[in-house]
Amino acid sequence: HRTLALLVAAGTGSRAGGNIPKQFRTVGGKAVIAHAVDALAAHEGIDAIHLVIGAGQEAQVRALLGDRAIAGVTLGADSRRGSVRAGLEAIAAAGGADRVLIHDAARPFLPGAVVDRLLGALDGAQGAIPVLPVADTLVRGEGDVMGEGVARDGLFRVQTPQAFRFDTILAAHRGWDEGREATDDAQILKGWGHDVILVAGDEGLEKLTYPQDFARAEARLASART
Ligand code: CTP
Ligand code: MG
Repeated sequence: HRTLALLVAAGTGSRAGGNIPKQFRTVGGKAVIAHAVDALAAHEGIDAIHLVIGAGQEAQVRALLGDRAIAGVTLGADSRRGSVRAGLEAIAAAGGADRVLIHDAARPFLPGAVVDRLLGALDGAQGAIPVLPVADTLVRGEGDVMGEGVARDGLFRVQTPQAFRFDTILAAHRGWDEGREATDDAQILKGWGHDVILVAGDEGLEKLTYPQDFARAEARLASART
């Protein structure tokens, strides 16, 4: 199997605030994107890493990644879906792959065991994603008034990396209606008619989304060091 990672880093990080996109900020003395690259590179099942970045960010990304090996760099788009599509097309143009792990650069910590579970599930499926159960009670809001409760059994929070057979996810992206948005690639695969297998995710894999998430990531690293 030729297994590639496609790391998407072309977002602006508007919800996280700060002067630079969140994936370029530092956690534990290292850029978030560098953490993500190192975690992918450390897994022996992953053969190479492709990056998707924003226009004009080449020099910044090169500086943050130093001599880490990157097989290809592609310019992203306005939506995450568009950025992934651009990366998949670039990989296809460069010879394709058997499997691809599509991952957010805003997730600095990726346990190898999650990648093991994803690749294992892919032996018998076209797609697999890491999920965590929902712990909190869920309710609908009707304005600022509580509406109906929502049963949380069977509900999961979805993480990345999301693992796919390369040709299948490429075809699913090509077949997706460009006018519709999709927040992740598993939705796109499902829309193309394939089952997506759920495997256990990891608390450490949480995405950096809001300003306070950085303090939590620093604390996680600090406690991992002691
Ligand atoms: N991403 C991307 N291209 C986009 C939008 C997002 O490559 N047009 C990437 C981000 O860089 C991030 C991942 O997709 O690594 C997950 O997206 P998200 O957390 O939503 O990041 P942003 O879109 O940058 O943040 P926000 O939505 O708060 O603006
Ligand atoms: Mg976004």
